[in-house]
Amino acid sequence: MSRTKIHLITAARPNFMKVAPLFHALTREPQIEPRIVHTGQHYDANMSDAFFRDLLMPSPHVHLGVGAGTHATQTGGVMMAYERVALEERPGLVIVVGDVNSTLACALVGAKIGVPVVHLEAGLRSGDRTMPEEINRIATDAVSDVLWAPSHDACINLGSEGIRQDRVDLVGNIMIDSYEALRPVIEGDSTRCDLGLEHEDYAVVTLHRPSNVDDAQRLATLVRNLLQASRNMCVVFPVHPRTRKRLEEFGLLDELERAPNIRLAAPLGYVQFMNLVTGARVVVTDSGGVQEETTYLGVPCLTLRENTERPVTVTHGTNRLVKPEQLTEAVAQTLNSARRPAAIPLWDGRTADRCVESLKRRFNNLGGKS
Ligand code: UD1
Ligand code: UDP
Repeated sequence: MSRTKIHLITAARPNFMKVAPLFHALTREPQIEPRIVHTGQHYDANMSDAFFRDLLMPSPHVHLGVGAGTHATQTGGVMMAYERVALEERPGLVIVVGDVNSTLACALVGAKIGVPVVHLEAGLRSGDRTMPEEINRIATDAVSDVLWAPSHDACINLGSEGIRQDRVDLVGNIMIDSYEALRPVIEGDSTRCDLGLEHEDYAVVTLHRPSNVDDAQRLATLVRNLLQASRNMCVVFPVHPRTRKRLEEFGLLDELERAPNIRLAAPLGYVQFMNLVTGARVVVTDSGGVQEETTYLGVPCLTLRENTERPVTVTHGTNRLVKPEQLTEAVAQTLNSARRPAAIPLWDGRTADRCVESLKRRFNNLGGKS
C-alpha cells in the first residue's frame, strides 16, 4: 500500500511548536508519510534550527530558502517556490499552521492546484486589519478545506464569517502538546539557574510586533518603561531580530545594554525560553503564543497591544492588555498577584491526536473507517 504524503508547512518561530506534535503523531500512522516543508521565512539558527533540535524533529525534508522581504515579495516568493514542490510531489494534503505570510502563501497554492488544505489554529481574530497576521488568518481560513480551531471562540468567529460548521473541528491548542511533551526537560533545564535568577523574582520580555517596534516613538516609550520596571526586578529580554535592528536604528540599544538590571540576550531556544517563563514573576510580551503559554501556566502576562486574537487568555487566563505608559505600574502590581493556571477546554496536551482523528474521519485514504 502506498503511503499518502502530507506536507506540514513550517516557516517562522511560532510554527515549529505547532508542527512538531502533529509530525510526531502522523509518524505513528503507517498509511501516512509526513513531510516537513520549511519555507525559510525565518533562517537564523536561533530562530529555526534550534527548534528542530528542541522539539526532536528531523531536518526539513524540503527547504524553500525564501527568506525575508516585503509582504508581497515574501508571500509571492513562497507561493512560487512551494507551487513547484507541490506539483512535483503531489501531496494528498497540505497542513498550514498559524498566521504568518508563509501560512497564507502555501494555503493559496494548495487551494489552486486542488490539494486539500487544512489550517491548524483557525478562526482566531483580533478584529484589527492593520495587523498583517489578521489578513493572513482571514484569507487562509477562507481557502482552507478543514479548519482546526483551538478554542470555542474561534468556531464562533468562523461561523460569523459564513464558514460552514462542517468544515470546522474544535481540536484544542497544539502548543500545549509541545509544552507537555517537553515539560520534564523544561523543568530540568538550567537556564534560569545559569543566569542567577531567583524563582518568581524576575520579568521576561519579548517584543516583535511592527506596531510596537517599527515606530521610533513607541519603541522609545517602551524602552523607558522597561528601564523603570527594572528598578524593581531583574528583566530578561531575548531580542527578536526585527527588534534588535530597530533598537540599533533608533539609538535605543546602548541604554538597554548599560542598564544594570536588564539582561539582553539573543533569541532563545524553546526549552531555554520556557524554562525562564515557568519561573517568571511576570511576562511582558506582544507575542501570540506567549499569551497562551502564560495562561496555561498561570504566569501573569502583560500584553503590549490594543487587542488580542486570543481573548480566552484575558477572560479565562492571566493576560492583561496594557499600554506602554501603564507598564511600570502593571509590573509592580504583579508583585501581589498569585499564580492562576487556567483550565481551558482541550488545552490538554492531546490536540495532535484529535487532529489525526479528524483527518481519518474526513479523508478515506488516511486509514479511516468510512
Ligand atoms: C513573523 C510573522 C509574525 C510572527 C513572527 C514570529 C508575518 C507577516 N510575520 O514576523 O506573524 O509573529 O514572525 O517571530 O509573517 N530576521 C532575521 N533572521 C531571521 C528572521 C527574520 O534577521 O531568522 C529579520 C529580517 O531582517 C526580517 C525581519 O527580521 O526582515 C522580520 O522578519 P519577518 O519574517 O518578515 O517578520 P517577523 O517580524 O519575524
Ligand atoms: N519563544 C522561544 N524563544 C524566544 C521567544 C519565544 O522559544 O526567545 C517561543 C515561545 O515560547 C512561543 C513562540 O516562540 O512558543 C512564540 O513565537 P513568537 O513570539 O516569535 O511568535 P507569535 O506567537 O507572536 O506569532
